Amino acid sequence: MHEHSRRPVDFSADPQPERETLSKAVKRIQQLKSELNAIILAHNYMVPPLQDIGDFVGDSLELARKAAETTADVIVFLGVTFMGETAKILSPQKQVLMPRLEARCPMAEMVRVPQVLKLKDQYPSAPVVAYVNTLAEVKAVSDICCTSANALQIVASLPDDEVIFVPDRSLGAYVQRHTEKTIHFAHGYCPTHHRIRVEDIMELKAQYPDACVLVHPECTGDVLDAADRIGSTGGIVRMVEELKDKYQRFVIGTEKGLIYRLQQLHPDKEFYLPSDVVVCPTMKKNRLEYVLDCMENRAPEIEIPEGVRVKALEAVEKMMAVK
Ligand code: 13P
Ligand code: SF4
Repeated sequence: MHEHSRRPVDFSADPQPERETLSKAVKRIQQLKSELNAIILAHNYMVPPLQDIGDFVGDSLELARKAAETTADVIVFLGVTFMGETAKILSPQKQVLMPRLEARCPMAEMVRVPQVLKLKDQYPSAPVVAYVNTLAEVKAVSDICCTSANALQIVASLPDDEVIFVPDRSLGAYVQRHTEKTIHFAHGYCPTHHRIRVEDIMELKAQYPDACVLVHPECTGDVLDAADRIGSTGGIVRMVEELKDKYQRFVIGTEKGLIYRLQQLHPDKEFYLPSDVVVCPTMKKNRLEYVLDCMENRAPEIEIPEGVRVKALEAVEKMMAVK
């Protein structure tokens, strides 16, 4: 085999918690779950032990829907803070615990309220579409939210000829490819997805010409051009299901954690990551011991000033209403 030959992702090479510690922690988490009447919602990017304890694992839209519909009193959210905030915006009566409040998506910090207000001044007839990867206060000054799963439908649902799209310039440019409307997009980006280079995809395609390339729309335009299909993390899960009889190998252009989810669902398939650096450092701040601590201590929890929450809810609910 060529020295640069790429192998399918193998999680067994990652440092693993000691077996006994792991099973003790998992047992205690299960106990606390029933004591607190809690549900554990885990994003597709969580490390394997955290996906394993999730009652539900999914993309940001699927998790927001679960958070809204659950009858649990407590939501333990394993992801980044904008996701926990969306759960709290939708369900203020539920306690939303997160193992690490410093797990903040850097892209969500790339647009602040004054910038949004400036864009609104610049384009007064354009509604503001806020990617869910935003702070609650940015959602509060926006007209409607979207995720990567529904960005195209959300923009299409608006009657306006132009829209302001914040903060992700890559997702904004992807939407622009699919609409006649003018998109005024901001300049945020995902540092993790921007580490995926088209050269890495091409190298994998040269090695495995029979592989199907599925990528997330937070990737750069040249990576999107090299893909067979583009979708949210949940969308990629559905695409593999749909394409599994046609392909044996898949190149996955998104954060490494999704590959564990795909391997669980399709143990007979091979999944390749374009490079080892497609790992989101903030998602990886979540660890099993912190999950246990936050459930034992019922802290830290997500809190949002009520005035901000109520305004942000309008934008989130408008998104949820678009089918
Ligand atoms: P999804 O909504 O596709 O899960 O994406 C969330 C995210 O943070 C992507 O980087
Ligand atoms: Fe944010 Fe990118 Fe990490 Fe997603 S992968 S949480 S967009 S930094």
